Order: sequence, then C-alpha cells, then structure tokens
Amino acid sequence: MDLGIAGRHAVVCASSRGLGRACAEALARAGCSVVVNGRDGDVLETTAAAIRSDTGATVTAIAGDVTEPAVRERLLKVADVDILVTNAGGPPLADFRDLSAEAIRAGVEAQMVTPIALVQAVADGMVGRGFGRIVNITSASVLTGIEKLDLSSGARAGLTAFLSGVARQLVSADVTINNLLPGNFDTDRQDSIIEKAASASGRTIEDVRKAREKAGPAKRFGRPEEFGAACAFLASAHAGFITGQNLLMDGGAFTANF
Ligand SMILES: NC(=O)c1ccc[n+]([C@@H]2O[C@H](COP(=O)([O-])OP(=O)(O)OC[C@H]3O[C@@H](n4cnc5c(N)ncnc54)[C@H](OP(=O)(O)O)[C@@H]3O)[C@@H](O)[C@H]2O)c1
Repeated sequence: MDLGIAGRHAVVCASSRGLGRACAEALARAGCSVVVNGRDGDVLETTAAAIRSDTGATVTAIAGDVTEPAVRERLLKVADVDILVTNAGGPPLADFRDLSAEAIRAGVEAQMVTPIALVQAVADGMVGRGFGRIVNITSASVLTGIEKLDLSSGARAGLTAFLSGVARQLVSADVTINNLLPGNFDTDRQDSIIEKAASASGRTIEDVRKAREKAGPAKRFGRPEEFGAACAFLASAHAGFITGQNLLMDGGAFTANF
C-alpha cells in the first residue's frame, strides 16, 4: 500500500532504539525524511546510519534529552514538520509509596508536558500547510492500571485527555492526533523489566521472559516493526478521518468488550 507520504518530513522523538526507532524506520521506508533522537549520541548515530542504508531516506540525528526545551527546538527546526511522533523513555517501575514528589514531576514532565509542548510548537504550522499527523506513543497503562506503573498511567492519561480536545480543533485542516498504546513489546525496556523481575523473584531471566510472553492470548511479545507499521498508517495520507483515537496494540491482553 502506498501510504501517500513520500517526501513528507517526520520528527520521531526518542527513536534511537525500540518502538521509536521502529516508527522512524517505517516512516523512512514510506519515503519520509526523518529526524531521529536519543540521549546517547553513539547509539543514535549507529541507528541513523542503519536507517539511511536500509531505506535510502534522509535521516538527521539530533542527540539530546527531549524533555529539554532547547533539544526540542533543535528537533523541530530541521524542516517544516509534517509528521510528529512523540515519545520518551517510560518512568522506572516503582511502588506508588516510594515515588517522591520530584519523581512524579519528572514523569509528568516527560510523559505529558513534553509531548504537549511539541504539539503546541507544530500545530499552527501544520494547520497553515493543510496537513499534519501527530502520533503519541503512550501505553496500555492508560486503559488499565498496572502495578508499579502508576506514574505512567497517570501522566499519560493526562496527555490523552488534554489532546483529545485539541485533536477536534485541528482535524478540519487535515491535521490529526492519535495515540498508540503498546502492551508488551520486545524492546530494551522490556528486557530491563524482565531483568528486574528476575532479580526480585530469584527466577531466571529466561523463565520470567517465557512467563511474560505466554501470559497474554497472543502468547508472544509484540514486534517493534508491527508497531512501526501502525504508526506509519496513522501518519499516512489515508488516515485523515481518524483523530483523537487510542489504538491499543497488546495482542488481546486487555479484555474489555469495548
Ligand atoms: N516496550 C514495551 O513493552 C512498552 C509497553 C508499554 C509502554 N511502553 C512505552 O513506550 C515508550 C518506548 O518504549 P521502548 O520499549 O521503545 O523503550 P526503549 O527500548 O527503552 O527505548 C527508548 C528509546 O528512547 C530514548 N529515550 C529515552 N528517554 C529519552 C529522552 N528523555 N530524550 C530522548 N530520548 C530518550 C532511548 O535512547 P537513550 O536512552 O539513548 O536516550 C531509546 O532510543 C516508553 O515510554 C515506554 O514506557 C513500552
């Protein structure tokens, strides 16, 4: 399927690894020029080179912490932004009792304030040019509480509600805002969650991994490329009538009827 976005310019935050990288790869494959980002400059350069060589796309690497306004400014000034994917590392797993006010503020900054600031910066330009696609990487934790991910649930639910109204204000200009909600995907973050669970329970990493994989109806983790493909579709020319939506990708793990 031709996604109709060849030649568009995409900014994918926090994309040197994992789900962000998969989104950047899918958009580059669809013919977009892509800005990739991450704090570790060496990892980022390696990713940028790999995407360039796999897709032939123009890939610009901007190293830095996306929660810092100056870094966001650098991400957005490469070219007029047609497609924005917001993302940042999720908060560390923590018992809600142990979260300091400072840790809560950092989680809200990364998961809510930062993506809102990015949307504020690009919205009017997209409206003026008559095209824009914004995809926020949030989490299944928006829909259902997950132990030790309370901060993720709270901050991302705040983002979701904030942008729900914004999405309706922009759609008549062919500018959409949607959220992708990952369940368990096979990324470095997944590995670190598995390692922590193994060391806390005394089980082996392999045992914990197998148990987590088999826990859901799909009996496997999601593959990052599946996530990237969904992102590219929401960013496509064909998705202009989809806005303010939350697409859960969890292999059927969340069992609400609606
Ligand atoms: N994987 C899952 O199963 C899953 C499930 C639910 C929700 N999520 C959420 O989805 C998002 C992506 O997860 P993932 O699994 O892809 O994580 P990951 O494998 O840990 O990759 C995170 C990426 O973001 C970059 N990054 C992190 N914090 C950043 C920051 N402040 N500024 C710029 N770049 C930053 C990392 O590079 P550097 O470290 O070099 O900065 C890396 O490229 C997270 O918010 C996570 O909580 C993931």
